[in-house]
Amino acid sequence: MANIVEEIKKPIKEEMKLFEQKFYESMQSNVPLLDKVTRFIVTTKGKQMRPMFVFLCAKLLGEVNEKSFRGASMIELIHTATLVHDDVVDESFKRRNFFSINALWKNKIAVLVGDYLLSKAVLLSTDNKDFDLLAVISTTIREMSEGELLQLEKARKLDITENVYFEIIRQKTATLIAACCEIGVLSNNADENTARKMREFGTLTGMAFQIKDDLFDFLTSNIIGKPVGIDIKEKKMTLPLIYSLKMANEKDRKYYFNTIKRYNNDTKRVKELIQFVKTSGGLDYAIGVMKDYQEKAKLLLADFPDSEAKHSLHLMLDYVIERKN
Ligand code: IPE
Ligand code: IPE
Ligand code: MG
Ligand code: MG
Repeated sequence: MANIVEEIKKPIKEEMKLFEQKFYESMQSNVPLLDKVTRFIVTTKGKQMRPMFVFLCAKLLGEVNEKSFRGASMIELIHTATLVHDDVVDESFKRRNFFSINALWKNKIAVLVGDYLLSKAVLLSTDNKDFDLLAVISTTIREMSEGELLQLEKARKLDITENVYFEIIRQKTATLIAACCEIGVLSNNADENTARKMREFGTLTGMAFQIKDDLFDFLTSNIIGKPVGIDIKEKKMTLPLIYSLKMANEKDRKYYFNTIKRYNNDTKRVKELIQFVKTSGGLDYAIGVMKDYQEKAKLLLADFPDSEAKHSLHLMLDYVIERKN
């Protein structure tokens, strides 16, 4: 897995190095507490797939430039802010194999830090008059909030169909990856058609990405950095679960709905439900859907001339569905 990431990064190695510093600078503040938290954020950084998407898409059309760097920082700021808020909402104390910000500094600080990061993303675009990027990120922030709220509403009622699930993950996750790809090409003055195509590429990739994330919840080995079964404990209805419940007989369906509704903190019942999803084909079904999204995304790259960046984007799509964390 390390090898595939190395190969993906080949055309953007320097850029990813420079990005570290620029991203840190984009968060800087004179408030000592903020400084402490942002230093913590950069030392526990994630996979940084989103800046990679921005740079690779920029490279499809030309060179990575200052606007591409600003775009990548805006995206990573929004990504970080939404994770900080998400861990408050999900009451999750673990992130990136370490403590989450709410675990270390409590909810009050996590909420305000998330707000601060969002404001810095918007300011980075307005300060530089990147109004096309501002339009993209504003829509993204709105859609992500709507997606998280729709998910919460559905977790209360458990009345979720596949189509609602797809709408939730499109909003909460795929929009941001779509924004990466659109912003990448916009930083090299893409025409409307190219921007639309790369946005679609990002949406399809993002759908596959979130289905993969949801599949991790059913793995017994705990490599992703969050506890197994946490989605079920949060009453989060993901694709494997939705499919297995739909296919189940009346008796099983009632029983497992009850597990989610009333016994979602009972480890034995949650384990039993995970086993049921596995044996009834829920995982295989979700893997199939994820691969369909991947295939559709790959097709959209066909019109671009062959290049190192295009090759890396193909590898990124493999990495999205094969990654181990
Ligand atoms: C996590 O995204 C949030 C989701 C949309 C599932 P990543 O898995 O890209 O998070 P990091 O940045 O690598 O930690
Ligand atoms: C991640 O959502 C946050 C957003 C997409 C906004 P989840 O709650 O599904 O993901 P993890 O598992 O905590 O990263
Ligand atoms: Mg979460
Ligand atoms: Mg969540």
